[in-house]
Amino acid sequence: MSIAGTDKPDKMYSSLTEKYVSTELELENAIVVKGLRKSFKQLTVLDGVNFVVKKGTVLALLGPNGAGKTTTIRILSTLLLPDSGQVLINGFDVVKNANKVRSLIGLTGQYAALDEYLTGRENLHMIGRLYRLSHLDIKRRTEELLELFDLVEASNRTVKTYSGGMSRRLDLAVSLIASPPIIFLDEPTTGLDPRSRLIMWDIITQLVSSGTTILLTTQDMDEADHLADRIIVINGGKIIAEGTSDELKQRIGSERLEIAVAAESSFEKAKKVIEDDSSLRSDDKMRTLSLVTKGGVNQLKQVLSRLDEAGIEVENISSRSPTLDDVFLTLTGHTCNDQTEKQKSKEVRK
Ligand SMILES: Nc1ncnc2c1ncn2[C@@H]1O[C@H](COP(=O)(O)OP(=O)(O)OP(=O)(O)O)[C@@H](O)[C@H]1O
Ligand SMILES: [Mg+2]
Repeated sequence: MSIAGTDKPDKMYSSLTEKYVSTELELENAIVVKGLRKSFKQLTVLDGVNFVVKKGTVLALLGPNGAGKTTTIRILSTLLLPDSGQVLINGFDVVKNANKVRSLIGLTGQYAALDEYLTGRENLHMIGRLYRLSHLDIKRRTEELLELFDLVEASNRTVKTYSGGMSRRLDLAVSLIASPPIIFLDEPTTGLDPRSRLIMWDIITQLVSSGTTILLTTQDMDEADHLADRIIVINGGKIIAEGTSDELKQRIGSERLEIAVAAESSFEKAKKVIEDDSSLRSDDKMRTLSLVTKGGVNQLKQVLSRLDEAGIEVENISSRSPTLDDVFLTLTGHTCNDQTEKQKSKEVRK
């Protein structure tokens, strides 16, 4: 039985003991999502999504642009109502106990949500006050976070003078001010330079080792590989794959043969020569072509002789295990880089 409008977790009610008893699922999991559906007019974005996130772990939500990752995070963080289904955060229902849920979570949205006319320090103080932290705690956490995110020097400048990366770092710091047990991060490192990205990864790892639960979305497969205990891929409104990074890689199997083409000018031609292999993937920056290894030495000979006949010089040949990028491409038909490039061009057009 659920308990509408109260501050008690939405747990099963036992008439025998007159006590609320948590189901095993709720005790073990910080986030429980059951049958979640959401449409915007004719557009079905989430079409029956189910997953759980164990306490003290990181779940990465992957999917192509428009797959519904931000929509999921907005529902889980009480910013958007679902059409149907149920979401429990530490046992509290996001619709019926929205206020309680808000006190348990931190959120960094895909786009910075800061007051541009306040300084970095003032933004942190303001959110600390909204969380009703004590004056002392606000001061202590603000200084800790400014230090951690390398923002001490800029802390007394208004945010409108910050670079994109600095705003992003402050936005992340703000979501950590109250040390919430559950944190949602929508593309936390998009727009960060490599050093800031590593700092963020470190912070996430530290938070998780002290028991925080994190749900993040990312377009960066290295990030998912590095941080996530489990990964979910959504596409077409549904979860199409779920598991650890290793499980997902094993699922698509086979080693890949990787061929580096010597001259940039012959790279496009090389792609055409072996485009009939449906497993072909190309990396324009690295000038490499990769194929699923299926025919051993014979396959290798055949590919090399076709490239040779076309006058294409091969610089290097190697074999490698599948990456999460390969998994993403196989499952969704896009590379993650495609997604990021599309996203960038979308942002440029804005
Ligand atoms: N408020 C809204 N009104 C109408 N359509 C919306 C609204 N919010 C999201 N959508 C649509 O829902 C779909 C999912 O959007 P969402 O932002 O969840 O995708 P995403 O997976 O986060 O994508 P990205 O990788 O680009 O961030 C998109 O087609 C989007 O246009
Ligand atoms: Mg999004």
